[in-house]
Amino acid sequence: MATIIGGLTTSHVPAIGGAIARGLQQEPYWKPFFDGFLPVHRWLADVKPDVAVVFYNDHGLNFFLDKMPTFAVGAAPEYRNADEGWGIPTLPPFRGETDLSWHVIDHLVEREFDITTCQEMLVDHAFTLPLKLFWPEGECPVTVVPVCINTVQFPLPSAKRCYALGRAVGEAIRSWAADKRVVVIGTGGLSHQLDGRRAGFINKPFDLKFMDSLVSDPEWATQFSIHELVEKTGTQGVELLMWLATRAAVGGPVRKVHANYHIPISNTAAGMMALEAV
Ligand code: DHB
Ligand code: FE
Repeated sequence: MATIIGGLTTSHVPAIGGAIARGLQQEPYWKPFFDGFLPVHRWLADVKPDVAVVFYNDHGLNFFLDKMPTFAVGAAPEYRNADEGWGIPTLPPFRGETDLSWHVIDHLVEREFDITTCQEMLVDHAFTLPLKLFWPEGECPVTVVPVCINTVQFPLPSAKRCYALGRAVGEAIRSWAADKRVVVIGTGGLSHQLDGRRAGFINKPFDLKFMDSLVSDPEWATQFSIHELVEKTGTQGVELLMWLATRAAVGGPVRKVHANYHIPISNTAAGMMALEAV
């Protein structure tokens, strides 16, 4: 059976792609952000996952406002990205782990989640940049299963529902009959708001409390409604639902391998955590 080795979470900001393309990792603006990933590179070299299941939100590249699934699971042999208009270079395609995709899909439907299955799927900056941050050298060494959660068009699934989805994805991974090591990844957040009167909104005390809760009290954030989360974290801060689903998928107790929090990257409170299943 497959093993979940842990969870990785990070913010995703398109400007990171530009910084990588231009080699700006050592510039004063970027260094505190990129340095946060160095201990995680060492951990990944040590634990060597084969597969990554990635919770993220599409921002209009694959799904648009006319067709917006609440939950979607990729089941494609490969995933490409495309120009989203941020001026960041596209990356080589990511290799899909289709056997695990269908196992996850079967399990989620069995557990009464109404998901959209995607045998073709473009992946945007929320998918590509985190993988590049965790594996900066060459092509991505892991195969992937993308799991998309709508945080773009209301109504959004509740924190409680995303936690339940994550838990079910974790069950599916652990019951996959393959001798593979799986890491779960969640991208988005932390607090940020790109639009409206509160554009630029950041809530450091809430973000730090949320990061702590993922280690010691993982269901803490499920007490909040979506509107409360928007109030506390901003209209795009609700992307932290991906972190919650990731933590639920890992399940059990975890050891914090590393965490980093840096304000701001673009308009975003940039957080990162690496949690090892113990
Ligand atoms: C920014 C943050 C995001 O989460 C995103 O998807 C796009 C832009 C930003 O802060 O610039
Ligand atoms: Fe985003």
